[in-house]
Amino acid sequence: MEAMYTLGLEIHTVGVMVLMGVVMFNIMMLLLNKNSIRYAKRMRMVMPISASFIALILLTGAIMMAAKHLHFTLANDAMIVAGIVFIVLEAKRYATLKRRTDITKEGAFEAYKHKALTYLGIEMGLVLGLTLFMMFPLG
Ligand code: HEM
Repeated sequence: MEAMYTLGLEIHTVGVMVLMGVVMFNIMMLLLNKNSIRYAKRMRMVMPISASFIALILLTGAIMMAAKHLHFTLANDAMIVAGIVFIVLEAKRYATLKRRTDITKEGAFEAYKHKALTYLGIEMGLVLGLTLFMMFPLG
């Protein structure tokens, strides 16, 4: 069990760091892209990457919880909520671009950009906040 927990923690931590990088990449891609069609194409490539890392984090989190016999801490509860919020925001971001942004309309991509940057900002805040909380625990 100990080995399972330790390996899970290592993969979990790497997954969190890479996810932070993917969110940062998404923010840069959004800020630098002026062409909505090219952005939509790139988004279709990047979205599965962030989804895979979210899945990796959730899976390794669940494995560690099993290894420590479901001894939930406040941090673990916060992480589970953060994981769910992350999935919801990513789904909303993709749906907003795919279904609610008519990229032929003037200003539609700018409106999408504003919403997507809000979602990505919340995601970055969640991952960074949890990581700092875990690395520098209070008390
Ligand atoms: C976006 C979601 C998440 C983030 C950003 C996150 C972040 C972290 C970080 C930074 C650590 C500390 C790593 C270290 O000490 O090296 C950690 C540990 C841990 N995480 Fe997560 N995590 C997330 C989701 C989850 C989920 C969904 C679960 C459970 C199902 C989970 C369970 C754990 C456990 C068990 C530990 C080891 C510390 C302990 O025993 O409490 N995490 N996580």
